Amino acid sequence: MLEIKELKAPPSLELFSELVELLQDAVGGGASIGWTHVPSTKEARNYWSEVLEAVGRGERLLFVATDNHVCAGAVQIALAPRQNARHRGEMQKLMVHSQYRRRGTGQALIGAIEHAAAARGLTLLVLDVRVGDDAERLYKRCGYQYVGTIPGFTQSTKGSFEPTAIYYRRLGGAQA
Ligand SMILES: CC(C)(COP(=O)(O)OP(=O)(O)OC[C@H]1O[C@@H](n2cnc3c(N)ncnc32)[C@H](O)[C@@H]1OP(=O)(O)O)[C@@H](O)C(=O)NCCC(=O)NCCS
Repeated sequence: MLEIKELKAPPSLELFSELVELLQDAVGGGASIGWTHVPSTKEARNYWSEVLEAVGRGERLLFVATDNHVCAGAVQIALAPRQNARHRGEMQKLMVHSQYRRRGTGQALIGAIEHAAAARGLTLLVLDVRVGDDAERLYKRCGYQYVGTIPGFTQSTKGSFEPTAIYYRRLGGAQA
């Protein structure tokens, strides 16, 4: 059974290892989420440790999807620290493990973290996504508005430079 929960405290060792595997699986599948090579287990562990520290400092929201208690996906929102930007956040690192895709997990993760963001008073979410990725279609379906495309914004795991699209979504009925 799919369960989506916010991770506020350090996870179990088991869940931590599954987050490591989730990241390696996503990058190994060519996802454009920050790495040009599949992170080693050490690199992935360091990455998640930093994320969890940022969560602990209140700088980031992290939601995790589990399917029968196995990690199926995760998503984050980086909160903006500046006084004039506290109403907004950046959706980042939406990942669903390749074995759990096309069951609505990605959409459920987006919905859950949006709900939490709105409850904290955020009224604007922004994100970037590589043009043509499955995630771009998903974000559009979830109501994100296209802003524009920046050519050559990210380098892929194959070495090519690829265009990235910027999207935003108003939360909680906020006006544009
Ligand atoms: C993008 C990503 C998170 C989507 O996760 P997901 O769990 O497969 O997402 P969903 O299941 O909600 O939706 C994906 C598709 O499955 C379809 N779907 C959802 N539930 C379904 C079901 N029960 N049966 C059949 N299809 C279903 C959706 O309609 C959607 O179809 P589409 O791709 O034709 O538009 C996943 O592909 C991923 O992790 N990619 C790699 C990481 C990445 O690129 N992240 C983006 C960073 S910006």
